[in-house]
Amino acid sequence: AMLLLAVAGLGYLLGSVPFGVVITKAFGLGDLRKIGSGNIGATNVLRTGNKAAAAATLILDGAKGAVAVLIARALLEGNDTAAVVAGGAAFIGHLYPVWLKFKGGKGVATFLGTLIALDWFLGLGACGTWLIAAAVGRISSLSALVAAAGAVPLAYLLGDQAYMPVTALMAVLIFVRHRANIERILAGTEPRIGKKA
Ligand code: G3P
Repeated sequence: AMLLLAVAGLGYLLGSVPFGVVITKAFGLGDLRKIGSGNIGATNVLRTGNKAAAAATLILDGAKGAVAVLIARALLEGNDTAAVVAGGAAFIGHLYPVWLKFKGGKGVATFLGTLIALDWFLGLGACGTWLIAAAVGRISSLSALVAAAGAVPLAYLLGDQAYMPVTALMAVLIFVRHRANIERILAGTEPRIGKKA
């Protein structure tokens, strides 16, 4: 139980590192929270026009979730609960980071990274869903919603019983965090990928 608490805390701390904010500042691109949607994720970093900074944000925000899961697996071998708790805690850390007065991001990259580490097929399936939706619709937020919603039945189909609850919880929170995006999608005003907002 102590180790479980420790991996949860570690996962949260990892997840709460806002790489988008850090990288945007490091590249001299300004304060990400004053750019575009104001969100701290890779999609909004891309609105600075710097693709390398956006890619680095995507990878590092994803790696937070994956590393949390891998640490839990290393410390508590064969304990799926620990892996799930660590990944879920990293996701929560990204959404509610202590460093940004709990005003964090929307969780898409960390969701994908966590799923990749929990089950390769589930994670790559969710990434594939995002990519296909993005190729069709060219809207990042809409692609995230499709990938999040799709990951739950995908986890079921893959027999990932142990990962279903955390996948569903993250998917619900992704929808909650995209409320403003959903309104803009319905109004037809959500910007396309890479367009400066
Ligand atoms: O990952 C967040 C993405 O789905 C939407 O970001 O900046 O367009 O609100 P943004």
